[in-house]
Amino acid sequence: MRRAYVYKAFERFWHWMQAILIMFLAFTGFEIHGSLSFFGFEDAVKYHNIAASALLILIAFAIFWHLTTGEWRQYIPTSRNIKAQLDYYLFGIFRNAPHPVKKTVLSKLNPLQKLVYFGLKVLVIPVIVTSGLLYMFYRYPQRHGVEGLNIESLQAVALVHTAAAFLLAVFIIAHLYLITTGTTVLSNLRAMLTGYEDLEEEAEEKEEEAIEEAVEEPAEEISSIKNF
Ligand code: HEM
Repeated sequence: MRRAYVYKAFERFWHWMQAILIMFLAFTGFEIHGSLSFFGFEDAVKYHNIAASALLILIAFAIFWHLTTGEWRQYIPTSRNIKAQLDYYLFGIFRNAPHPVKKTVLSKLNPLQKLVYFGLKVLVIPVIVTSGLLYMFYRYPQRHGVEGLNIESLQAVALVHTAAAFLLAVFIIAHLYLITTGTTVLSNLRAMLTGYEDLEEEAEEKEEEAIEEAVEEPAEEISSIKNF
């Protein structure tokens, strides 16, 4: 095992802020929906709108960070080992089987995580943000005498927004369970708090070898062309 710096400072800040905001949005959202009662409807709407604005700002910074650091590549889905990962969560985990995919700094998400996080990023979050903004501003044009946004009724928007909220709530519950399935019960949580995690050296070495090979191959090709 080797101690590696897996989650950078901004990444951890973004992760925890996003977790807090989404849980708060779910709480206030389901109060608006009528499922629970805590702040009172009007305050729930006010707080929901404030948290939504904070989430939008956070999303803008997160997009910038992922694009500029190249970390967005971590989320490219792959079908490789997806069945093995599913088998592990359904059966292997209860028999103390080893993790089928070893975590490395350059590939810190398993194939199921890649798929689910990709789906959240390109589908669920954009849907909840767009429907939320439509919900927020649907009266806005009429209020100022402009008939630009012609939504007859909010029903479809509310339905889509609530459906996406349910999906996110299911994700949070699954995520909380899966946090405990790392090398030890607390290792994933500790890593997202401190940034550091113990990774298997073998997996790291294999990855380094693969990178070296990939870098050497084109160099060899170039020198053989030059010699020719
Ligand atoms: C940028 C993101 C978001 C925006 C702009 C937004 C905006 C809104 C607005 C304007 C409302 C209606 C308030 C009213 O009745 O006046 C609403 C309702 C609601 N929101 Fe959000 N929201 C966002 C994110 C979320 C998230 C992340 C969740 C849950 C995980 C969520 C869950 C809900 C729920 C359950 C309702 C009640 C829907 C209904 O019953 O009609 N929202 N949201």
